[in-house]
Amino acid sequence: MTAQGFRVEWRDLDGEDETRSLAAELMRRAGRGAVFALHGDLGAGKTRFAQGVARELGVRDAVASPTFALVLEHATRSGGVFLHMDLYRLGCESEAEDIGMAEMLETAEATVIEWPDVAAGLLPPRTIHVTLAATDPGLPDHRRAEIRFPDNIPAVRPS
Ligand SMILES: Nc1ncnc2c1ncn2[C@@H]1O[C@H](COP(=O)(O)OP(=O)(O)OP(=O)(O)O)[C@@H](O)[C@H]1O
Ligand SMILES: [Mg+2]
Repeated sequence: MTAQGFRVEWRDLDGEDETRSLAAELMRRAGRGAVFALHGDLGAGKTRFAQGVARELGVRDAVASPTFALVLEHATRSGGVFLHMDLYRLGCESEAEDIGMAEMLETAEATVIEWPDVAAGLLPPRTIHVTLAATDPGLPDHRRAEIRFPDNIPAVRPS
């Protein structure tokens, strides 16, 4: 058995629009079926990132935090589904299994999962892990993103 390789990139994000743009870029690079697991504290910018993926997919409705819903589905421009999950309130992985999370990820055009650690065992190998963090109290609109790609995702942004 060979372990899957991965690469890490870092990005400085000055303001929430840069976080949305990074998300849109990663969506283009990953293509259909993309799964993003978003890590970072409360207010780190995970929902802003989800908005960028939604924009790239042509989602027309507003993308807000699904904290009380666990999962929200949005129709995309191409007639697919953008899944926005927030597992903050999920107790354990078997609850995610019960709602059919693994199957949902296979049919969605793209999925963003906030607070994914509780269901780490259900994430497919193609999952892109993004960690967002504020780095300096003096720069409230700055975030540092660490992006961990499986090695089957193109390194260079398609033109
Ligand atoms: N560079 C940035 N990227 C993203 N958000 C930023 C940035 N700079 C400032 N912000 C602000 O930080 C907040 C991020 O909120 P957001 O709801 O996206 O966080 P979250 O990680 O989803 O939090 P939660 O864990 O509560 O769901 C917003 O108020 C946004 O305006
Ligand atoms: Mg959020």
